[in-house]
Amino acid sequence: MYAEVAPSETRAGDLAGRRGIIVSGGPASVYDAGSPTIDPQLLRAGVPVLGICYGQQLMAHLLGGTVQRGERGEYGFAQLEIASDAGRIFREIAPRQQVWMSHRDLVTRPPEGFHVLARTETCAVAAMADAAKRLYAVQFHPEVAHTPCGTQILSNFLFDVCGCATDWDPAGQIQGVEDRIREVAGARSVFFFVSGGVDSTVAYTLCLRALTPERVHGLYVDTGLMREGETEFVRANFAALGAKAFAVHDASAEFLGALAGAVEPERKRHIIGEEFVRVQQQTLDSEHYLDGHWILGQGTIYPDTIESGGTAKSELIKTHHNRVAGIQRLIEEGRIVEPLANFYKDEVRAIGRELGLSPALLERHPFPGPGLAIRCLCADGGGGLENDGGAPEKSPDGWVLPVRSVGVQGDSRTYRSVLAIEDFPASQEEAASLINRNDRVNRVVAEVWTAAPVAQMRARPAALSRERLARLRRADAIVRSMTHDSGFDHFVWQLPVVLIPFGLDGRPDSIVLRPINSVDGMTASVVRMPKGLLAEIAAQLKAVEGVAGVFYDLTNKPPGTIEWE
Ligand code: XMP
Repeated sequence: MYAEVAPSETRAGDLAGRRGIIVSGGPASVYDAGSPTIDPQLLRAGVPVLGICYGQQLMAHLLGGTVQRGERGEYGFAQLEIASDAGRIFREIAPRQQVWMSHRDLVTRPPEGFHVLARTETCAVAAMADAAKRLYAVQFHPEVAHTPCGTQILSNFLFDVCGCATDWDPAGQIQGVEDRIREVAGARSVFFFVSGGVDSTVAYTLCLRALTPERVHGLYVDTGLMREGETEFVRANFAALGAKAFAVHDASAEFLGALAGAVEPERKRHIIGEEFVRVQQQTLDSEHYLDGHWILGQGTIYPDTIESGGTAKSELIKTHHNRVAGIQRLIEEGRIVEPLANFYKDEVRAIGRELGLSPALLERHPFPGPGLAIRCLCADGGGGLENDGGAPEKSPDGWVLPVRSVGVQGDSRTYRSVLAIEDFPASQEEAASLINRNDRVNRVVAEVWTAAPVAQMRARPAALSRERLARLRRADAIVRSMTHDSGFDHFVWQLPVVLIPFGLDGRPDSIVLRPINSVDGMTASVVRMPKGLLAEIAAQLKAVEGVAGVFYDLTNKPPGTIEWE
């Protein structure tokens, strides 16, 4: 089965021949001026349609049902009660299910011909269908890991209702991808700015196979924002791949210079993006890569293009560096090859396995392009801090820290304070309800260890200095090695270690651990670490110079993002 993402404006006629259509979610309200819509003919073409979240609301709205603003939003886990006659879409699914909700608007009256298939406590139309017309819709998110029966619902829709077949194998696409690389490159060669991560390494390897090693150049830019031991690891990997033209360029002075004084997350990302383009441009000029004989290769994967607003209607949550203006220009000139642009992360790993890449590389946790910069929070004593003096504020639930992090709610970006609580709550629901209760925060952390009571700790101006990066790098290396040795790293998808400018005299910073599980980075759930391991890690982190505290992030995505910035 093959699936592609199309913009919501696509005309029904352009989708003729498709076996089924899924209309996805989004942050808008159907009543907002200019909110995304679909060609109503899609709902009359006789093709099965599944609406998800906003997709359900849109289906109801276009077919004459009623959508209203809910009294309060519903963000997080909910209990779904499925009607006994819910039919095909809920086949082989028990009547009570945990599902993931992220919405404000609700369908209050389904269109004529539709039946309500399921409800939750706050959402009377959590699923609806007009089975005769093969139109189905759900308010919750079947596509995320937090809805355990979601895969079954999607399978029911795709294989039972639409009649698709399970014949899509990413490894089977390798030949086609290599043909395409040869076609795009023509007589030209490819140069890569490799990050050392799974995506760019797999993309590079595909180009090595499609072309010859002499025609595929790789440059690894050491931004000064990398993890401990990273450059050596990357060098060894590329040597093993048989790369003949691989080099390392130390640009740390330029990156750190450009970032001096930057506090706001999007500004940091923007600077890093621009700096990448500047370093790239410099390389292109000095190495004569611009003479028409070369194109740029990139490891961009499908979710990168969706989450950064690459599709017309998805709101920008975080800018990814490979979509800033400079790269965009190269794309427009057609001088780019992105062999993995149609693949999801798990598919990239499957391709890598087929290509014989080492498990140590393929099983690495994803690491963001801007590197430790977005895990090293800064403050300028002005806009970056919430209040004068940088003191935490007492709230009935704990302490509101004067440190802000990025979050996402109903697909929109938030930038709010962090709530610190003394003990780990008994359940994840409890942690979620703390955030729902406190408007000012989008994230909750538990104290693991602090050198003094939180009340005495302060947020203070802090830059992206070599000193603070070294502190974060050390803490990150400790966490990585201890979670690796204990085997805990197999239970998480990613484990960002974050440095926040919140501490004491002589110990200006604290460390936050953020172990999460996810399928594709779009949503994530918190993973609790065994107590013994956490105690051992905290004991080691205490010894890191300048560290005043260790906190544990208890926030799912949404409402928090995986990274803090
Ligand atoms: P968030 O923080 O948006 O992260 O929940 C989702 C996934 O994307 C990674 N990430 C990035 N990767 N450039 C990247 O290449 C970026 O600017 C960037 N920001 C976030 C993050 O590590 C997680 O896996």
